Parts: sequence; structure tokens; C-alpha cells
Amino acid sequence: MVSLQVIQQSNAQIAALPKGLVALFIGATSGIGLSALQQFVQYAPAPRIYSVAREASRASHEEFLSSLRKVNPSGDYNLIVADVSLVSEVDKVAAALKAKETKLDLLFMSPGFIAFEGRKDTREGLDPSMTTRYYSRQRALELVLPLLNNSELTSPRVVSVLAGGMEAAINEEDLDLRDSKNWSFWNSSVHSATMATLAFERVARSHPRLSIVHSYPGPVITPGLVRAAKFGLKTSSPQSQEEGGARALFYATSDRYGVKEGLVPLPEQLGVSQKTGGGVFLVDALSEGIDNEAVLSDMRQRKVDEKVWDFTHKLFAKVDDQSRGTNE
Ligand SMILES: NC(=O)c1ccc[n+]([C@@H]2O[C@H](COP(=O)([O-])OP(=O)(O)OC[C@H]3O[C@@H](n4cnc5c(N)ncnc54)[C@H](OP(=O)(O)O)[C@@H]3O)[C@@H](O)[C@H]2O)c1
Repeated sequence: MVSLQVIQQSNAQIAALPKGLVALFIGATSGIGLSALQQFVQYAPAPRIYSVAREASRASHEEFLSSLRKVNPSGDYNLIVADVSLVSEVDKVAAALKAKETKLDLLFMSPGFIAFEGRKDTREGLDPSMTTRYYSRQRALELVLPLLNNSELTSPRVVSVLAGGMEAAINEEDLDLRDSKNWSFWNSSVHSATMATLAFERVARSHPRLSIVHSYPGPVITPGLVRAAKFGLKTSSPQSQEEGGARALFYATSDRYGVKEGLVPLPEQLGVSQKTGGGVFLVDALSEGIDNEAVLSDMRQRKVDEKVWDFTHKLFAKVDDQSRGTNE
């Protein structure tokens, strides 16, 4: 376990990082992402922030960004309106970022929800709880890879807050759980987490300079957890939103979760966190690396990762065809 005190000391050292880091936040309109963004801005010298909000959250997020401008006037704060429950909307996010920046140093992703009410497909014909937690995050990562590659950091960083380490057996014949007999909110969660780690590993292998962190925050008191409690989900000893945000920011900035040094140096007496066999940092609620090789190495050996990758890209191609159809 890494203590909160050590994490806060590390996060304060963000102040010594280079000026003008460019960061894209998806999911920071509430919860862990919001808190991580707030704490990042508290320390970062002249950060260039891009943060995504759907229309319904636009006004409150604009207000939040205005409060950040007061906290750190040296920063530049940009709101991108997009609903990432649709894969095609992620393209708007990448286009808005590319219109203003040639590099990206940090991609931070935490959108998502558990579909306790059942599966209600989007107009793309996809489960929005899987889209927010897996498809759109993967799409975002792939679209901004050229910008991450342009980062001057020794190792640009990607953080995805979801369920790293909770990968488990998935329905390999029905990856998007299209058959209603296969879908449940639990299966949708397991598929999102497992497919995410396998796809991140594919990216990590082809982009060894990138540091990719998939974290499991454990219970954190956020609007998402409050909603889950209404559906009867019981949790014990939840972290505060501030602690969840501080830990997630630690994953985004500490050399402990980097394939190379170059961000905030390792805290005293702590080493670099362990990676999966596929090169991704899986991190638990108390900021320790997780070993889930029993599940993941078997999947790699059986080429489930290739299957997930191909499936995901066919799905992206279908979404592109649909978008072209509606735009014509
Ligand atoms: N908090 C926990 O205890 C916990 C535990 C394990 C895993 N996680 C996972 O960690 C991630 C972050 O959790 P959190 O509690 O910080 O999340 P949160 O506060 O509930 O929400 C995070 C983001 O998801 C967006 N979002 C939610 N439903 C959406 C929808 N239907 N369409 C589009 N966007 C939607 C929210 O946008 P709006 O502001 O517009 O609603 C917000 O930007 C989530 O993926 C969550 O599943 C959380």
C-alpha cells in the first residue's frame, strides 16, 4: 500500500515538471477524474487542459473550468463537448485537440457507468456502459497516438480508471454481449475491463515508449457510487473522492508507473510498479501493482487479445460506415 501522505508529497512535485504539459481528460465532469484534474491544475506549471463534457454537463463543467482558471491562471482550459457513449463522438474530441495541439503528454480517461437498469443500446447499436468504459477509451487512445508520440517527455502517460486487475473469463464468441442471454451488467463490466487490458497491451507492445496504466480505484465516494448504492450495491470503507483523485493523479505523474523515468521521481523506498506480461501497469485501490497473469497469459497464449483487437476494429469500421451514411 502506498500511503496517501506519500502520494500527496509526490503530487506536490508536479510543480517541478516542465511548463506547458498538454493533458486530455475524458470523464472529468465528475468523480475521480474531476478530482484528479483539480489536483493536477493545483500544481502543474502552465498546463494546457482539454476536458470533455456531454451537453447535459457542459454548463457545470464550464463553471468548474472557470474555478480552475482562478486556481491556476497560468493554465489554458478548453472544454470539448462530446458524448462518449457514442464511439463516433470521440472523433470530435480528437479533432478538437488536433486543431490546437501537435503533442499530448497525458491522456486521462475515467468515463463510465454500470448499467443497472439493463442494456439500452445507443443509435450505434452498442451498449453505452461498454462504450464509455472500453470502446470509446480505446478509440480515443488510438486517435491521439500520433500526438502522444510527439510528446517531449521520455514517456508520455495514459491512465484509464476502471478495473485493472479484475480481468476474468469473457464470452469469446459474443464479445459485445449482443445476445440478451449473455448480457448482464456484471458481464458488461468484466468484458469492458478485460478487453481494455488486452487492447492496451497491444498498444503498449507497438508503442514501447508509452506508459499505460489501468487502475482499479476500489470504492470511491463519487456520483457513480451514490447511484450504484441506490441499486443496492454495498461497499465497505470507500475512499473519499479527493483520495481517489489523488491516487489517480499519482498514476498519471509518478515514475513508479512509467516505463522510463522523467516525470515525478520515485518516492523514497518505493520501486517501479510491476507490469503485465503485455507491458501495462495494473494498479489496485491502494496503488500497488496487481499480478493477474494467471488470466492474462492464458488469454495471450490462446490469442484472445488478437480476437479482441480484430473485433474492436471491425466494430470501429462499422461505426465509421454508419457515420458516413448519416453524413451523406
Ligand atoms: N467510484 C467507484 O467506486 C468506482 C469503483 C470501481 C470502478 N469505477 C469506475 O471508474 C470510473 C470513474 O468512476 P467515477 O465514480 O469517478 O465515475 P462518475 O463520477 O460516476 O462518472 C465519471 C464520468 O462518466 C461520465 N458518464 C457517466 N454516465 C455516462 C453516460 N451514460 N454517457 C456518457 N458519459 C457518462 C460522467 O459524465 P456526466 O458528468 O456527464 O454524468 C463523468 O464524466 C468509471 O468508469 C467507474 O465505472 C468507479
